[in-house]
Amino acid sequence: MAVDDTTRTDRTTERVLGSPALRREGRAKVTGTARYAAEHTPPDCAYGWPVAAAVPHGSVTGVDAADAMALPGALAVLTHENAPRLGEPDDPTLHLLQTPRVPHRGWYVALAVGETLQTAREMAQAVRVSYDEEPHDVRLTDDHPGLYHPEQANGGYPGDRETGDFDAEYAAAPHRLDLTYTLSPLHNHPMEPHAATAVWEGGHLIAYDSSQGATPVSETLATMFGLDPKQITVVAEHVGGGFGSKGTPRPPVVLAAMGAKHTSRPVKVMLPRRELPSVVGHRAPTIQRLRIGARDDGTLAALGHEVTTHTSTVKEFVEQAAVPSRVMYGADGIRTGHRVVALDVPTPSWMRAPGDASGMYALECAMDEVATALDLDPIELRLRNIPEREPDSGKPFSSHHLADCLREGARRFGWERRDPRPGTRRDGDLLLGTGVAASTYPVLVAPSTASVQALRADGSGPAYHVRVNATDIGTGARTVLAQIAADQLGVPLDAVRIDVGSSDLPTAPLAGGSSGTASWGWAVHKACRELRESGGSIVTVDTTTDVQAQEEYARHAFGAVFAEVSADAFTGEVRVRRLLGVFAAGRILNARTARSQFIGGMTMGLGMALTEHSSLDTRLGGFVEKDLAGYHVPTHADVPDIDAHWIEEHDPHLNPVGGKGIGEIGIVGTPAAIANAVHHATGRRHRQLPLTPDLVV
Ligand code: MOS
Repeated sequence: MAVDDTTRTDRTTERVLGSPALRREGRAKVTGTARYAAEHTPPDCAYGWPVAAAVPHGSVTGVDAADAMALPGALAVLTHENAPRLGEPDDPTLHLLQTPRVPHRGWYVALAVGETLQTAREMAQAVRVSYDEEPHDVRLTDDHPGLYHPEQANGGYPGDRETGDFDAEYAAAPHRLDLTYTLSPLHNHPMEPHAATAVWEGGHLIAYDSSQGATPVSETLATMFGLDPKQITVVAEHVGGGFGSKGTPRPPVVLAAMGAKHTSRPVKVMLPRRELPSVVGHRAPTIQRLRIGARDDGTLAALGHEVTTHTSTVKEFVEQAAVPSRVMYGADGIRTGHRVVALDVPTPSWMRAPGDASGMYALECAMDEVATALDLDPIELRLRNIPEREPDSGKPFSSHHLADCLREGARRFGWERRDPRPGTRRDGDLLLGTGVAASTYPVLVAPSTASVQALRADGSGPAYHVRVNATDIGTGARTVLAQIAADQLGVPLDAVRIDVGSSDLPTAPLAGGSSGTASWGWAVHKACRELRESGGSIVTVDTTTDVQAQEEYARHAFGAVFAEVSADAFTGEVRVRRLLGVFAAGRILNARTARSQFIGGMTMGLGMALTEHSSLDTRLGGFVEKDLAGYHVPTHADVPDIDAHWIEEHDPHLNPVGGKGIGEIGIVGTPAAIANAVHHATGRRHRQLPLTPDLVV
């Protein structure tokens, strides 16, 4: 069950909401007592090790498990022939070991179950699978014959949109830029690889899962195993990051539950990091064509943003990279669209700021190119194009402080001292440059339930107990929800006990889309207010009607990111010297954890700009970069000076807590800010990431 470390008291005496309260589970994490999914080991626990398809496309013609089963401690080898039959889930990537089909290299074709981890692993290596191999195609090109316009992009956005007459506006514009930016696939690679432990107790399934949302996992398992959700408990007590890859149920929890059902033993499945690229999603590659028609004064007449991307043959997932161009700038004609082709690749999925991270890289680099072409300051160019209303929908913004972020960032960064001419600053062999880019991320919220109970008033322990199936993926969700409760109840922070991270708790949406705090916080706020006003002892609430009653506004967080880089004129090595983000994201509820979210996102953006890159092997299929030796995430030494600030934003059209969500916006403007700084340093545009030394010189 979810535990709560209420012994960790925050000494802040001021207003509890907004204060930099310490993480409640911080002590448990740093002392190693916080248990993650793989650290739950029920008595008699067996271990599962999956067998990944060794061909890029085709079908399994036979599985010879004799050698594997001959090993001491071997319990079972599950294949499509003997595995439990599963109901069809909404997400077909989970329909495992049900058919012989191999849609891509790395797809699971068997599960070895043994007494120990070592046995299971040795068994998996001893399983001999034969295949009927078919031709494969993993190469995305912008003239691929299989490309089509999807009805919807990820997130439910329309695939294609047009406002005004893009073609006419573009043709008539005095300045026209037609630019193509290319991004490779990227991988989430959370610190804690995906893992699950499953136990059947009678007809009740208990799963300890590394997930961003235990409720969606329990609902999916109910469908697949033909159970009532009440017969399932999913625990996601501590989660070592997910960045979207744990936003949906993943193979380990399905395999563990299947293995446990088949062997009548608890089964634990821990994916080695090398397996993650094939089975837990990736940010899809994009080829993005930006066409911008500008007037002499820098205002935009036309904005075209057309995205080409891939999905798998298992399911359609369309990276919504053109969507930010429906939000950011006013132009008389705006065309945004997506084309996708289903290739024999692993299925792409959510990765921190899906759509926005990719799309804003291209849009914000293109804006920098417009500024250069028109000899305009890039901040001034953006200020001249901030729209009155959301361009695509025509809705008013609930609040919009991009201009303040740009101005405040410019002041803090010392932008006015910048010589706009590229390639003019040097420090020995190092070329120096600075760049700026805007950020945006939509404000999302989902209905949630929560309960609060009054315990005791004699000071002998927590006075209130809040329960909600929120998930703390490292963000500090427990802490900020306790702050919201304490604030509403008018009590100190340590008077509130909070339980999160189990599907047995009041139902709540996942930690995703930067919507967690707003969604859970709304329910916690409502429950605590009702308890205070009613004087009762226990209150359970549901915010479905409150969320549905929201007025029609365009709700977005905005920000501005500033970067200073050096580029070595001989080696091409780019180093970030300074990185500054200023954000307008509604009310900031915990200054400490918010700062961590912002700089964490910016660090991930730095990785996207300079080090992170994945590629598909056209000959063998599947990803080449499988671990952190091949897929380079930034280290501490890559991030010398990083800082985040925020504008005090009071937006009455959000939710009772007043926050917009902060988990994703930090990554969004960072790649373009760094890329623009590299152009300023070197005078060269690259229009692709990451900016590795071979590219830069
Ligand atoms: Mo985030 S990519 O919505 O977990």
